[in-house]
Amino acid sequence: MSQIIHTPVLLDAVMTYLAPEKGESYLDLTAGYGGHAGVVLEHTQAPKKAVLVDRDQTAIEALGEFKSLGARVIHASFEEASQMLVQQGEHFDMLLADLGVSSLHLNTSSRGFAFSQDGPLDMRMDQRAELTAATVVNIYDKDSLEQLLRTYGEEPRARAVATAIVAHRPIETTAELARVVAGALPKGSKMHPATRSFQAIRIAVNDELGQLERSIPLWLRLLKPGGRLAIISFHSLEDRIVKQAFADVAGDRYDANFRLLTKHPVVAAADEIAINPRARSAKLRVLQQK
Ligand SMILES: C[S@@+](CC[C@H](N)C(=O)[O-])C[C@H]1O[C@@H](n2cnc3c(N)ncnc32)[C@H](O)[C@@H]1O
Repeated sequence: MSQIIHTPVLLDAVMTYLAPEKGESYLDLTAGYGGHAGVVLEHTQAPKKAVLVDRDQTAIEALGEFKSLGARVIHASFEEASQMLVQQGEHFDMLLADLGVSSLHLNTSSRGFAFSQDGPLDMRMDQRAELTAATVVNIYDKDSLEQLLRTYGEEPRARAVATAIVAHRPIETTAELARVVAGALPKGSKMHPATRSFQAIRIAVNDELGQLERSIPLWLRLLKPGGRLAIISFHSLEDRIVKQAFADVAGDRYDANFRLLTKHPVVAAADEIAINPRARSAKLRVLQQK
C-alpha cells in the first residue's frame, strides 16, 4: 500500500549505505508512508527495534501497519522525538531522515502546498501547528516577507514579490497566491514563477531549516558505535546544513568520532528521475560513528 502513494527516493543507495543487518535497530525520522522503512525492516526482521517518526497525522495513520508489527510510532516533529529518545537513553544502528514534504502533501490540494492546484493557504506538515501560510502571506510585514523569500526561496526579486503580496491582501488560496507572485515576475523561465516563493513560505511555516540544524547534533548522540546516519535533502539550503554539520564532526584525525561514508552526495540516476521526478533534486549524505 505504502509504495503506491509515495515512491521512496534513492532507495538502492539508502540500502547500500545503511546496510541493514538482521536484528539491527532503526530510527526513521521522517517515516512518511513507510516506503524506506518497509524495505529496511524486511532486512532487519526486527520491527520491535524500530521507531518511526512523522509530524503529519495522515502519515501516522498510514504507519499503523508497522505498529501492529511492534514498531514504535511517534507523532511529533523529529526534533521533539529526538530530544525524547536522547533523554530515554536510546541508541540505534541506523537513522534515516528523508527531508521535506511527501508526494501526498503536494498532491492533496486541501493541504495547500501546491501552486498547481487550488487550495487553502495552509502548508502545515503538522496539522496541529498554529502557523499557517495564510498568516505568513496576510499578516507578516513587507520587510519580513522580503527577507523570508530571499533567504528560504533564494528569490532574486524578493522585494517585488513581497510588494505584490502586500498589495493584493487578503490572499485566500494557493492559486491566488501563485497568480500574484507570477504577476510580479518576468515571464520566460522554465520553472513556474511561484516555485521559489512557495518553497520559502513552506520552509518558514514548518521551520524546516531550524528543525534540521537543531536535530543533527541529537541524531549524532542517538547513533550506536558503527551506526549509520543517512540524510536525504531536496534543496541547497538543507544540503548546506547537512554538509557542514557532517564536515564538522567527521575526519581522518585519530580523535574524530565519525567518518563520512559519502565523500560526495549521492544523486539519482536518470532512470529513477524518469519514474519519480521528485528524485531530481535529492542528495544523500551518510555518516558513520566509528
Ligand atoms: C519525503 S517524505 C518521507 C517519505 C518516506 N521516506 C517514505 O519512503 O515513505 C517526508 C516526511 O517527513 C515528514 N517530516 C518532514 N519534516 C519533519 C519534521 N521536522 N519532523 C517530523 N516529520 C517531518 C513529512 O510529514 C513527510 O511525511
